[in-house]
Amino acid sequence: MRVLGIESSCDETAAAVVEDGTRLLSNVVASSMDLHAKYGGVVPEIAARSHIESITPVVEQALSDANCTWDDIDAIAVTYGAGLGGCLLVGVMTARTLAITQNKPLYAINHVEGHVYANFLTETNMEGYVLPTEAPKFPLLALIVSGGHSQLVLFKDHFDYKLLGQTHDDAIGEAFDKVAKILGLPYPGGPSLSKAAEHGNDKAFKFPKAKLEAPYDYSFSGPKTAVLRAVQQMCGKDHDFPSFKLAELLSESQIADVAASFQRTAVETVVDKTVKAFEEFSPASVVIGGGVAANKELRKQLSERLPIEIHYTDPKLCTDNGAMIATLGCYSALNNRSTADPYSIDIAPQLSM
Ligand code: KG4
Ligand code: ZN
Repeated sequence: MRVLGIESSCDETAAAVVEDGTRLLSNVVASSMDLHAKYGGVVPEIAARSHIESITPVVEQALSDANCTWDDIDAIAVTYGAGLGGCLLVGVMTARTLAITQNKPLYAINHVEGHVYANFLTETNMEGYVLPTEAPKFPLLALIVSGGHSQLVLFKDHFDYKLLGQTHDDAIGEAFDKVAKILGLPYPGGPSLSKAAEHGNDKAFKFPKAKLEAPYDYSFSGPKTAVLRAVQQMCGKDHDFPSFKLAELLSESQIADVAASFQRTAVETVVDKTVKAFEEFSPASVVIGGGVAANKELRKQLSERLPIEIHYTDPKLCTDNGAMIATLGCYSALNNRSTADPYSIDIAPQLSM
């Protein structure tokens, strides 16, 4: 069973071929990130136009890297939500067209669910990938932490899951990106904030963790505002002073200390909930997915505090990619999930788990 996965929900145009839900044959990602850097965030129209330019060569490269022709492909899987409307459209229209012209079954994939499935890839001949040696087992506790989502989900089996909790406001990756902006760190904020944090004192500041009634819900807008207030205070400025100018008044060590303290608090917030859910539900495996799953501090804290071993996947499979979509496509086919009608399937920008 070989599935071609197509992903275009945000600023990555991606395609990959996965075999039997475990073997990664190719993984091609073209990012328009550089085009967004000067705006400090993804500009939807620029991202969508860039997908149009990249999608055909990316799909062709994914097939050729996997040494596959269309005859070797059993199905196509595509992200149909959640994501940016114009961006999703490009991937979905491409997949629809290919499903019709190549006569292949089409699976419509939920992007957030897809992030979990990056962890099922255990084999590859491709260089530069460090994959877990065994696939996760059910019941499976999944922490999904990306730029658009922060969710804790309990899977009883494939396609049989329950959302335990989610963020009330900003996603954790979004909070990393916004705090990085306050600190004048380059886009994308998550990786640059965690790099700056390496030289900082993570106890220098005590940022609050939101207390919510629902046991597995999060909130990141409070800690983000606390960072802004702390930085204003350090600079001797109030809300009248433009926040984008604050970073110029900070020393490198001040930036490092704020970054490290914020990172520790944000990571602790999701790790606290994951540990609590582990104690309540006793899952056989725990996995993490989404861009923030590449974060070293998150991996460190989880490994220290959970009593089971976590098999982390390669950071390249944490950020958006086609492999996670192809993998979930394989399990959709293997579990006889219904296929999408290539003549009518639509995008679902607000899709949730
Ligand atoms: O999963 P993803 O590629 O896209 C979404 O589905 O949102 O996640 C992107 C997010 C961004 O907010 C980015 O700053 C964050 O993941 N991110 C990180 C790291 N690498 C990416 N955040 C913290 N530490 C990292 N190493
Ligand atoms: Zn994502």
